[in-house]
Amino acid sequence: MLDRVAHGTLPAKPHTALRSSEGALRYEECFTRNGFEGAFSMLYHQHRPHEAEPAPLPRHFPAPRAAAERSLARRHYRCLDLPELGAPALECRLPLLFNDDIVVAFARPRAQDTAYFVNADADELWYVHAGGGTLKSPFGNLVFRTGDYVCIPRGTAHRFVPDAELDQAWLCIECKKDVGIPRHYRNPIGQLRMDAPYSHRDFRRPVLAEPSDDGVRSLVVKRNDAFSGFRARHPFQDVVGWDGSVYPFVFPILAFQPRVGQVHLPPTVHATFEAGGALVCSFVPRPLDFHEAAISCPYPHTSVHIDEVLFYANAAFGSRRGVGAGSLSHHPAGIPHGPHPGAYESSPGQTHTTEIAVMLDCTSALTATDNALSVEDAEYHQSFQA
Ligand SMILES: [Fe+2]
Repeated sequence: MLDRVAHGTLPAKPHTALRSSEGALRYEECFTRNGFEGAFSMLYHQHRPHEAEPAPLPRHFPAPRAAAERSLARRHYRCLDLPELGAPALECRLPLLFNDDIVVAFARPRAQDTAYFVNADADELWYVHAGGGTLKSPFGNLVFRTGDYVCIPRGTAHRFVPDAELDQAWLCIECKKDVGIPRHYRNPIGQLRMDAPYSHRDFRRPVLAEPSDDGVRSLVVKRNDAFSGFRARHPFQDVVGWDGSVYPFVFPILAFQPRVGQVHLPPTVHATFEAGGALVCSFVPRPLDFHEAAISCPYPHTSVHIDEVLFYANAAFGSRRGVGAGSLSHHPAGIPHGPHPGAYESSPGQTHTTEIAVMLDCTSALTATDNALSVEDAEYHQSFQA
């Protein structure tokens, strides 16, 4: 969660009456995490926000299911070869890898959501590989584009409106534990430290306009991987003001300020978000290590607690061959991994990289789905042989 912000009209004190100029009472909604002890926001609605009634369940995405058991190996999946379902984001999300902490999925939405969605199981962190659009929520409208992370706190009613003229390709990381800023990037009062790899100004918040009615009343709620349908009685965007530290936000990956060392630094210097059981790292264009004999290519390594996932936004990843934009690699704990043949040997003297990639270091073993197997590069594990 981020810093406190305030938008629209608020009463001077929480839990006191806020009225319109005509005297209509607004309805406060306290949106709290970790019971009443964690971060929170307060929203002021024109209507009672808790009047949705059970209704038939619209279409939605599937919960992840394990593919048949198979041998441990380094894996490579080509996400852009997944089928385009011609559907909204809520219906076209295809789970690829999962464990008890996260679900990694891919979506290529072709239409706007016709229902609002509440994920009551997880915070959602999207990476927009291609495309863009608007995320609508009671907090306001949040515009996103290629290269943006979009973070949606659990419990937030939202719907995606993709730009119709753009090809869309989005990676979704469903984080069943909290996702947020690494603790060591904050000072004692919660500001981002001066030496953090980004500043408060790099984040984009929702823009709250006047209350509006998009006509959508359908609501889908996911809790414990089961989906329920509801029908709201009022517009979702009926908020006249809100303040707090819990809200959807955007962070552009290219706003990440990379670190460079005399010799190769471990991937933790690229840490961007912390989720329970997963560290999200951003690899962005940067100068490489500057020792005259530095091997800038990552060393072979055995990270004994970690299943490593990399999503490649371009084909410039220095240590890998045969991967391209839209590739997703999974290097499981139990077998070491490292550069492809030739990458390590050719790296001394290289001065820059143009790579853009998102890495997930996961502390629990990941399981693949049949969706992943359907776009697997079967030669990948063997491609590391010199
Ligand atoms: Fe690695």
